[in-house]
Amino acid sequence: MRLAAVGDLHVKKTSLGQLQPLLAPVNEHADLLLLCGDLTDYGLKEEALVLAKELTAAVRIPIVAVLGNHDYESGQPEEVTRILTEAGVHVLDGEALEINGVGIAGAKGFAGGFGRATLGAWGEPATKRFVQEAVDEATKLEGALARLRTERHIALLHYSPVRSTVEGEPVEIMTFLGTSRLEGPLNRHPVDMVFHGHAHHGSLEGRTSNGIPVYNVAMPLLLQKFPGRPPFRVVEVVASPTSETVAAMESAVKAAGLRQPPIGSAAHAAENG
Ligand SMILES: [Fe+2]
Ligand SMILES: [Fe+2]
Repeated sequence: MRLAAVGDLHVKKTSLGQLQPLLAPVNEHADLLLLCGDLTDYGLKEEALVLAKELTAAVRIPIVAVLGNHDYESGQPEEVTRILTEAGVHVLDGEALEINGVGIAGAKGFAGGFGRATLGAWGEPATKRFVQEAVDEATKLEGALARLRTERHIALLHYSPVRSTVEGEPVEIMTFLGTSRLEGPLNRHPVDMVFHGHAHHGSLEGRTSNGIPVYNVAMPLLLQKFPGRPPFRVVEVVASPTSETVAAMESAVKAAGLRQPPIGSAAHAAENG
């Protein structure tokens, strides 16, 4: 099964017609589209309606999404979710979904920093509330992963669970780009790969401490690293009982009508054979 993933579309009221040409190639290159949050720029109903129109017009494969922090900005994430859901998008917030034998667990995630620099729930009540949000999001992710009964497990996030895919961003803001609190659930379940966004200037690939591949698919990052290519990452999930649980490989190089193939992960395919 070919998964296409992208985050940080940041659709504005004026974006009508702009996303369709970018996303239309996804139909021939993938079987499922994953959207990793910051789907709208200000979390406005009007922006969600534009996005719904763009997705409906351009994408004919199933779409699974999580929201990002920008989708919360106007205090109506439920409206954003409702509009996208009515357009056929599966919006996950601590839920699990199975599509063609592939299980997807989705949650927004939250910030708080990585490793020994992870913010602790200590001191002022405001600090404790901040940390609790990260704990709650990690709990949502864990619950969703625990419900999957499929052979393949995919985790969908907005914030990063590892430091390696936010590297490239100013060190001063790394604490706000994700948290290691999201990494525990990933390592405790048989997760095959993780997709996230949010770090527009981070790094494309990393791994959890257990070696699970993590892909930062923020659209600005993909456009910067792969100019001229369709701005989504394509990874194939392959059932392979004789090798590692998942082989991810360059996909759809045979793309018809494209100047260059979509963004795959040749390096990972080579490692896994
Ligand atoms: Fe973003
Ligand atoms: Fe974000």
